[in-house]
Amino acid sequence: MSVMDRLSSRRAQINKEIEIALAVGENETLRSAMKHYPLAGGKRLRPLFAYLVADAISGSGELTVPFGAGLELIHNFTLVHDDIMDHADMRRGIPSVHKKFDVPTAIMAGDALFALAFEEICKLKVEDVLLRFILNDTAVAVREVAEGQQMDMEFSKRDDVQVNEYLTMVSKKTARLYFAACRIGAIIARGSIEQIRAMGECGQMMGVGFQIWDDVLDLEGDEEKTGKPVGGDIREGKRTLMIVHALSTLKGEEKKDLLSVLGNQKASRRMIQDAMDILHSCGAVSYAKNFALEYIREARERASVLPDSEAKELMLELMDYLVRREE
Ligand code: IPE
Ligand code: IPE
Ligand code: MG
Ligand code: MG
Ligand code: MG
Repeated sequence: MSVMDRLSSRRAQINKEIEIALAVGENETLRSAMKHYPLAGGKRLRPLFAYLVADAISGSGELTVPFGAGLELIHNFTLVHDDIMDHADMRRGIPSVHKKFDVPTAIMAGDALFALAFEEICKLKVEDVLLRFILNDTAVAVREVAEGQQMDMEFSKRDDVQVNEYLTMVSKKTARLYFAACRIGAIIARGSIEQIRAMGECGQMMGVGFQIWDDVLDLEGDEEKTGKPVGGDIREGKRTLMIVHALSTLKGEEKKDLLSVLGNQKASRRMIQDAMDILHSCGAVSYAKNFALEYIREARERASVLPDSEAKELMLELMDYLVRREE
């Protein structure tokens, strides 16, 4: 059985909580816009990590569900706004929120999901002082996601983005939610200081690996499986690790060709395909894949602070899945 299948009963609990959370509000349009992504699928990776960390530390995974559901609502809020920023018309195989509704409704739905997430986290059955730490850590993480997203936008206008700058950007826009998932999972489980710290690092590392893989999927994934259009990052001029690597190694005609497609909203399918071929032939794709694997290897090492258990095994397998998934 695949690791995703083995996590189905945990996922079902998280999904139920999310469904209940979304049954609020008096404006029908806003309610539907809020539900559009969360009820259309999604792998639920972040809440699953929180759940598994807590199970591995003290068998308390179930306690994390309101936090995991809240974190997933935050993730969905960032997706709604991300799709406006990235001019993305499709997600999870359906029209994006701003396409199905309109941009103002999507902005509002994102905001409302963000607020709803904190209502949900407040349902946690932990002492008030712990809840204060959890709310603060979560709020900091979301603020840093915004910083990362701002960097993502600014980088797309530059041709000299360095690998370390890319890593800072994805550490914020993507890895912070994994950091929060694993760290707060450990806090809820009453882990030791050492476990809490190591789980934060573990989440941070896996989040970077996860985003590099997402960038790879944007290039060579199957739309049927990812539910997102292929090649969007090239059209938007995203400075992914592959692009950063290619721009620093390519010279002459090939570099010129790549730059002429990057960020060209009118680029034809043929031009996008040529850019993809260049990225493959200059070794940028395998460079990025190896980078992602290395981050996952580092993340796995941090799990040595956890006692051996089935939950720990599942967590390790789920980390491997992050960099071989096709969806
Ligand atoms: C996609 O995240 C957005 C990124 C941060 C790259 P996921 O791949 O976790 O998306 P869903 O929730 O499963 O659709
Ligand atoms: C997403 O990065 C990061 C956040 C949503 C914060 P992407 O822009 O690569 O995500 P996808 O590919 O649209 O899901
Ligand atoms: Mg984006
Ligand atoms: Mg995007
Ligand atoms: Mg992407």
